[in-house]
Amino acid sequence: MPTKVVVGVQWGDEGKGKIIDILASRAEVVVRSQGGNNAGHTVESGGEVYKLQLIPSGILYKDTLCLLGAGVVINPKGILGEINGLESRGISCDMLRIDPRAHVIMPWDLEIDGLSEKLRGASEIGTTKKGIGPCYMDKAERSGLRMYDLVHPELLAEKIQIAGGLKNRLLTEYYKEQPLDLAAITEEYTAYGQQLAKYLADVSVLAYQAIRENKEVLFEGAQGTLLDIDFGTYPFVTSSHPISGGVCIGSGIGPTMIDEVYGAAKAYTTRVGAGPFPTELLDEMGDKIRNLGHEFGTVTGRPRRCGWFDSVIMRHSVRVNGLTGLAINKIDTLSGLGKLKVCVAYEKADGSIIRDFPPTIEELAECKPVYEEIEGFEGALSCCKAYEELPESCKRYIERLEQLCECPIKMIGVGPSREQNLER
Ligand code: GDP
Ligand code: IMO
Ligand code: MG
Repeated sequence: MPTKVVVGVQWGDEGKGKIIDILASRAEVVVRSQGGNNAGHTVESGGEVYKLQLIPSGILYKDTLCLLGAGVVINPKGILGEINGLESRGISCDMLRIDPRAHVIMPWDLEIDGLSEKLRGASEIGTTKKGIGPCYMDKAERSGLRMYDLVHPELLAEKIQIAGGLKNRLLTEYYKEQPLDLAAITEEYTAYGQQLAKYLADVSVLAYQAIRENKEVLFEGAQGTLLDIDFGTYPFVTSSHPISGGVCIGSGIGPTMIDEVYGAAKAYTTRVGAGPFPTELLDEMGDKIRNLGHEFGTVTGRPRRCGWFDSVIMRHSVRVNGLTGLAINKIDTLSGLGKLKVCVAYEKADGSIIRDFPPTIEELAECKPVYEEIEGFEGALSCCKAYEELPESCKRYIERLEQLCECPIKMIGVGPSREQNLER
């Protein structure tokens, strides 16, 4: 069975959750490899809406093994809340497993995320304030706490004293804040460890075994390519690797074990948080797309910035992810908007035209989008059950996107539910 990866190819929120849920109906294992509860993946099924943050979108299928790899950062309180929320709705989390190597988001990470954003002032990143950056900082600095520590009370107490002691110095001496109560944190986190211990297992081994047994394994990306710490719009990025290569590092399987890489995109572009966005619409059209597409963040509720489809970004994503196919969601949102625009290239300040996404935001700041105007389409696309049923002008829009992206478009989303997905 092919091993598939689904990644976001814009700035996140491209509808990855929906695509994973659709593909998961055929998968036996779904794996998350990076990020944490900064992600918000919406799945609509049987009239119910599920907003998942850490738990893989395969959880709605009761026999699907759902794995959180070593590269994920876990907020214990957050994941327990998610487990309880799902179980209270009749969704069992018995098939969830968490790698003991995964790092734990600690109370000081949350605190420092907020304080460092405040310190950045006007140049803030606009993080989700979930402690993601500080947790990955501690991991890279080799002072982080891992899930293994969380479920071993003596280790946990010792590591909280060492790591927390240092963070308290940072909080009091640098930020001039109150220290955190390490004894209370130890008590609280020991209790979380007791509840989470049963989920710990070596995800690298489980994923490898499943692949060897020819089971269908699906890797669920979080965030998006332009939020990648190296290949995104640094520093306005997250602290992990949302690109397909991140799957190998974050779950512990080699690149030769991946067969297909799907990129999820919207038929337009959105971004939540700060940073450059060449095709951003700061006019009425931007407001229209935001309202029609309900573009408000799943995690923070912030209004998402909206703009036209940008094929320069898409070609960058096709390259860095090695995409074998695209899923274009929310084509229904563009219905009835009149003429549409698609960015085909960027024009630099000296008048030269470039087709490749620039490596730095300094170079990106110089770029203006070069647009092609495309005929729009009308009608309630959400009712279409097959690609052939879409209006001709809508099919022409999709075919043009496919040419510009240089990657086959294999799925089209015409609505948020599982059924509103047209295979091509
Ligand atoms: P993710 O983070 O990539 O999983 O995406 P989010 O769940 O944060 O945001 C995508 C939003 O678009 C969710 O509210 C989905 O229910 C919704 N959605 C996904 N695909 C479609 C589609 O084809 N049409 C419409 N109208 N909504 C969609
Ligand atoms: P999903 O998986 C959209 C953005 C934040 C901010 C930047 C850094 O739902 O697509 P962080 O808290 O990660 O340090 O914030 O990244 N961001 C997302 N934007 N979708 C996401 O996840 C995101 N996760 C982080 O808004 O700009
Ligand atoms: Mg999201």
